Amino acid sequence: MSSVLKNIKNIKTPHLEVKGGRPLSGYLEVGGAKNSALVLLAASLLTQETIEISNVPKLTDIDVMTEILQKIGVKISKNVHKINLRAQYIQNVDLPYELVHSLRASFFCIGPLLSRVGKAKVPLPGGCEIGARPLDEHIKGLKALGAKIFIEGGIVNAYISNKSNRLKGTKIIFKYPSVGATETVLMAACLAKGKTKIINAAKEPEIKDLTNMLNTMGAKIKGAGTSEITIEGVDSLKGCSYSVMPDRIEAGTFLIAAAITRSNLLIGPVIIDHLTSLLKKLKESGCKILKEGCFIRLIAKDIKGVDITTGPYPAFPTDLQAPFMALMTTANGTSTIKETVFENRMQHISQLKKLGARIILTKNSAHIQGVNQLDGSILEGSDLRSSAAIILASLAAKGKSTIYGLNHLDRGYENLEQKFNNAGSHIIRKNQTIFGKDLKFNQSGAEDNQNIEPKAA
Ligand code: EPZ
Repeated sequence: MSSVLKNIKNIKTPHLEVKGGRPLSGYLEVGGAKNSALVLLAASLLTQETIEISNVPKLTDIDVMTEILQKIGVKISKNVHKINLRAQYIQNVDLPYELVHSLRASFFCIGPLLSRVGKAKVPLPGGCEIGARPLDEHIKGLKALGAKIFIEGGIVNAYISNKSNRLKGTKIIFKYPSVGATETVLMAACLAKGKTKIINAAKEPEIKDLTNMLNTMGAKIKGAGTSEITIEGVDSLKGCSYSVMPDRIEAGTFLIAAAITRSNLLIGPVIIDHLTSLLKKLKESGCKILKEGCFIRLIAKDIKGVDITTGPYPAFPTDLQAPFMALMTTANGTSTIKETVFENRMQHISQLKKLGARIILTKNSAHIQGVNQLDGSILEGSDLRSSAAIILASLAAKGKSTIYGLNHLDRGYENLEQKFNNAGSHIIRKNQTIFGKDLKFNQSGAEDNQNIEPKAA
């Protein structure tokens, strides 16, 4: 066999095989919030004491963040969904490009490093599939706090040049309520000298989760969850134990899964107030929603088209735009979905159309004509939430679908196929080599090797 063929033989193309067209039943378990856990991990840099974070989802993004923190010098021990971190000594302020490039959230380290040791060098993460993802608001906030920042060769060099080697509280007005920029300034301002006021702050629940942990560490933050947040700088922060809030985007994905498969499903645990905008639209589309403590039961029979426009919290979340569009492709009637947060977050449309969906995109608005039935196909996710959307659509589609792009999916959903299979779906994760053996993972993730002889060339 030629060397080229030998190399091809070892290319692994992990994918899911989904047998669709069956309702789900029972319960879908919601884990800890990825977009909160990532920033809570970075906040461990703010103290020399131990931070114990529980309900952390097992995701590749979390693994990359802990690897970056270890390179900085943080001592880390992991036990499934619990991570202990101790940044007693900061040994390195120069973050490695190959890790930063794969995880934008690594930029969250810059604020705490400035506060702890007065300097940081973080490569610009660059854009991603959904947009340019600039960091100008983060940099504006840090400069306002007194940091000197220059960008050279794609590296953000930040340092404090005043004698006290300490950031100074100030007033910061954001042009856009950026989630990440609000979190960057919150962490940097905690240890600044004096008071900081953020105007037009993001109001997402992840901001409150971060604030709750920082205040447990001894920070003095007020107004989280509103557009005006004040931070009274303190001299140091102590260690703490903290549990990550439930993932509102995973919960929303599961609620939409129940709706698209016309099922009766229990989903949780959730913080119901975090899901208000989604629940309103699901009810409007015909779903029955029952609140059962910190769980939600969704019962879906007939679904009709409803219009949504994404926006900053508490508007409809951009992270649920793609999953909701999957639902609308199976609804009775038409719907319009407008994306206002990211400039390139409609790539799932091409994949949904392969299943038979009828969608016309005009700028950042999708016009959907629901169809009676989707049919299985071969699909590929291009980003985290588009991957989730095509899995939901394949659960509803008649016949088999094969879904590639699992590297995106595994960034944000822990054991997704296992959770859905526990509720009655039929999804198998496979590592198909182009030739040679067809690796099939069983529920526990172990390989069940079935050797398939390469077809005669
Ligand atoms: C967070 O991204 C989330 N990621 C995103 O989730 C989520 O979609 C987004 O908030 C909005 O809710 C994490 O928390 C790790 P933004 P973030 O700053 O902080 C512009 C997922 O799928 N902007 O609120 O990057 C930006 O270009 C991910 O889980 C600037 O112009 O979001 C975008 O158009 C995707 N300058 C808008 O603001 C800046 O300095 C919203 O961005 C920062 C942002």
